[in-house]
Amino acid sequence: MNTMHAMQAPVHSGDRVFAFSILAGLMARRKTIDCKWLYDAEGSRLFDAITDLDDYYPTRTEFAILRDRAAELQTLAAPGCALVELGSGSSVKTRLLLNALPCVGTYVPVDISDGHLERAASRLDAEYPAVKVHPLVADFTAEFSLPASLETVPKILFFPGSTIGNFEVRAAGDLLARLRSIANVSAFVIGADLKKDAATLVRAYDDSEGVTAAFNLNLLTRINRELGADFDPGAFRHEARWNAMKSRVEMHLVSRCVQYVHLLGERIVFEEGETIHTENSHKYDLEQFEALAADAGWNTHRTWIDDAGLFCVAVLTPAAIPEANLAGGPGRRTGDVVPLID
Ligand code: TRP
Repeated sequence: MNTMHAMQAPVHSGDRVFAFSILAGLMARRKTIDCKWLYDAEGSRLFDAITDLDDYYPTRTEFAILRDRAAELQTLAAPGCALVELGSGSSVKTRLLLNALPCVGTYVPVDISDGHLERAASRLDAEYPAVKVHPLVADFTAEFSLPASLETVPKILFFPGSTIGNFEVRAAGDLLARLRSIANVSAFVIGADLKKDAATLVRAYDDSEGVTAAFNLNLLTRINRELGADFDPGAFRHEARWNAMKSRVEMHLVSRCVQYVHLLGERIVFEEGETIHTENSHKYDLEQFEALAADAGWNTHRTWIDDAGLFCVAVLTPAAIPEANLAGGPGRRTGDVVPLID
């Protein structure tokens, strides 16, 4: 341990969760950083820039699907219902749903990036005077709860961007199951990126303009600023790899040389070529995705896919809970919190 450095490394943010997560990830045998930490103010800004890139096809593809099909959700939207969006970011796709569904009374954007969330929410609030906007700063990968006032309100869940793909398959299933326990959900609209050729996939995560590289490397700048670390971002490079076995694009930060980094009193050694694994983006085919949803208690009501077969938006509805799972006896309604199907 480098004690001198330990004294110079106060935790500026006071965010112990962040500090612990980063330290544990970097001290592991295979170094990782949880991808949710990519989204500080600068990371959220860079991510918005990624969504506009020619090389990054998911955003515009999903946008076009929603623009063409969102009106079909009308039959599932109850008067005065709430639209709950996970990882809302700048809420760009939200407008397509709000325009198609005038009966939505409340919009609940949930995001980990507080400043970004507040700005996006207040813009939406001004644009849609008939919609109540309740932003929720929360990490939906951990426990989070919706405002109690929404308990009995019918809800549409919206989880676009193929963010579900950023979870390991098992964790994705757990998240879908957790969302299944939210009361009174009439529809769950979720975007999933589909399997395709490796070259297209890698280009989407290593664009020719270097924006994704800057987004990934911004993690190191953030750790320096918030945890007093001494990463030299120039000594790492961004790499996107297609992992065919796991059907995912992996993002790594590759050390260009042997180097030491000091962080919260620890000295972390990097070999040349050693990586920090920062992100996964799993790609599904339709059958796999439907099976994942079914295991978590969701029926696939519709699937919308673009003509080129790049991206899928699925409309899920809560599956009826089998008798055997109705531990609380009669009186339960679909959508109540119930033990999930094993
Ligand atoms: N949900 C997005 C995806 O998997 C997130 C994303 C896009 C991303 N580009 C990225 C995450 C680059 C990290 C690095 O497509």
